Amino acid sequence: MPEPNPNASIEQIDQSSAAGACSDPTRRAVLLTALAGCACLAAIEPTLAEDEQPGASERPQKADVLVRAEGDKAGEVIKADDLTLGGPPVRAWPKDPKTSVVRKGSRLNEVALIKLDPNELDETTRARFPDGIVCYSIICSHAGCPITAWVKEEQGDKNVLKCMCHNSEFDPRQNAQVVFGPAPRRVAALPLTVADGAISVAAPFVGKVGAQQG
Ligand code: FES
Repeated sequence: MPEPNPNASIEQIDQSSAAGACSDPTRRAVLLTALAGCACLAAIEPTLAEDEQPGASERPQKADVLVRAEGDKAGEVIKADDLTLGGPPVRAWPKDPKTSVVRKGSRLNEVALIKLDPNELDETTRARFPDGIVCYSIICSHAGCPITAWVKEEQGDKNVLKCMCHNSEFDPRQNAQVVFGPAPRRVAALPLTVADGAISVAAPFVGKVGAQQG
């Protein structure tokens, strides 16, 4: 077996020698000293997956921020100016600003943010989202599919949140009331606070999250 080349890069050593070194105690000792990034270290001290970190499965908490759930900017904190008036919705995870844990350990924590004209909102919705930035669970109350579409409603002209599994529609201006399809009830709302463009969670979910059981 060839000896490690002291002039080789970490990448080169990893590729040519690390696998063998992990099974050879003498060479492993040499390489562990030389290479903090050796694959062997990863086996000795495994890191928790992001969605397994403590708190990752807890429901959104007051003062959590919201980060993008998808796209090139996934993981970035969402600010009011990042949202386009009238949609489309932006899918997001809550994130604990103190521990930096993103609460993506449960699919029930994913939400959609939409910036709307506050004057379009009914009284209940405006009280919960005074700046017009509304936030709802994306888990459909019918059978639990993710609500993925922002389309013209079946019976009107406005865009609504739509679950493509069985075509249920939810109007974000009316506290996510069901306006079409088999869903038995609205989806849960996540009240927000907006201060100087920064968005944070104002209170836990209002309403049941997920599909109706029994
Ligand atoms: S799961 Fe959404 S309409 Fe059936």
